[in-house]
Amino acid sequence: MSKSFLMLVTVAVVIASTSAFAVTDQELRAKATAAGLQALPSAPPAPANNPMNPEKIALGKKLFFDPRLSASGVISCNTCHNIGTGGDDNLPTSIGHGWQRGPRNSPTVFNAVFNKAQFWDGRAEDLKAQAKGPVQAGVEMNNKPEQVVATLKSMPEYVQRFGRAFPNETDPVTFDNTAKAIEAFEVTLTTPSAPFDRFMNGNNKAMNAEQKEGLELFIQRGCASCHNGVNIGGQAYFPFGLIKRPDADILPPTDKGRFQVTKAPADEYVFRAGPLRNIALTAPYFHSGQVWDLKQAVAIMGTAQLGVAIDDAEAGKIATFLGSLTGKLTNISYPMLPVETATTPRPQF
Ligand code: HEC
Ligand code: HEC
Repeated sequence: MSKSFLMLVTVAVVIASTSAFAVTDQELRAKATAAGLQALPSAPPAPANNPMNPEKIALGKKLFFDPRLSASGVISCNTCHNIGTGGDDNLPTSIGHGWQRGPRNSPTVFNAVFNKAQFWDGRAEDLKAQAKGPVQAGVEMNNKPEQVVATLKSMPEYVQRFGRAFPNETDPVTFDNTAKAIEAFEVTLTTPSAPFDRFMNGNNKAMNAEQKEGLELFIQRGCASCHNGVNIGGQAYFPFGLIKRPDADILPPTDKGRFQVTKAPADEYVFRAGPLRNIALTAPYFHSGQVWDLKQAVAIMGTAQLGVAIDDAEAGKIATFLGSLTGKLTNISYPMLPVETATTPRPQF
């Protein structure tokens, strides 16, 4: 074989392998938009029945970090939704009151405001409804609304802060307002400027070639049919194991998902398509938290949800694309919390 022939073949192979993804950036952006993938908006949506003000956000931040919302005085929202580690706890399933292990993996609080509903099964309609759950859950903070209110009222700084956050209310220190203040803080936990967002907003260089290939595959393979919207997921419910049920360690038979909410047989093992922003920061994966490797999670989605075998190279590209969904969080400083008084209820273990 002549040298020049070999060279020709090599050139042809290079062209062929690049032309498989020879869509222009403009075309790729249009495909992504058509598939329902959206850049993060410049401002989060305003929550219903909860007007924002800076006092309320600051109060919500203190409450989020305050372990005295739990019966033991040990566990705060930040324990399981650690702002420093992707807004989750990086455990398979969370550990709460009395070292008990809960049944599910902790989802991130970042960008949660963009989910259609909260929890893996969507049982809370918004963040303020959600926030009341963990405070009372036996395996989480194990507290009672009256006890939370008594705790907050025992600290003059909290009383003043609730007054400023909820002006014109005669009795502002309530469990409802606690949830509303936490929601106000959580609404600010958005992570803008991910490479994907900058790409979608017109910067062709924001994503590298492999991330773009991964995005193309994410759409081509059908991932975007369930994971779409601003949060690239978090919008709709599907059976986990639509085509093939995953192994029992990944889909434990005891957790029937949305069935527990609706009691409709069709909702057995139905879960919310996970929101995929910052997914590279929040291993382990799935509601059972049994998969630590993002590539492996992608491959499981291929067999379980799409009935296709996604090989290692493709899974790697898709995982690389998913890495481009990691955004920037403005630095959050740990808040100083109000001082206890003699009437502050004592910790209960
Ligand atoms: C003991 C660990 C633990 C504590 C403490 C905890 N959470 Fe969670 N959180 C979880 C777990 C686990 C889930 C998922 C539960 C489910 O889907 O059934 C969750 C779900 C959520 C979600 C829903 C996110 C989504 O994508 O659906 C939000 C928001 C949230 N928690 C906020 C809070 C707030 C606010 C507090 C404090 C008031 C708090 N959590 C305390 C473990 C915890
Ligand atoms: C038919 C709908 C559907 C399709 C198609 C689908 N997914 Fe999912 N995805 C889900 C559901 C539902 C979950 C939640 C599973 C659970 O209960 O843990 C999920 C969870 C995930 C998770 C874990 C999220 C987390 O926070 O742990 C990743 C990662 C993921 N999907 C990626 C993909 C990729 C990549 C593809 C394409 C190869 C894909 N998905 C295709 C519905 C789908």
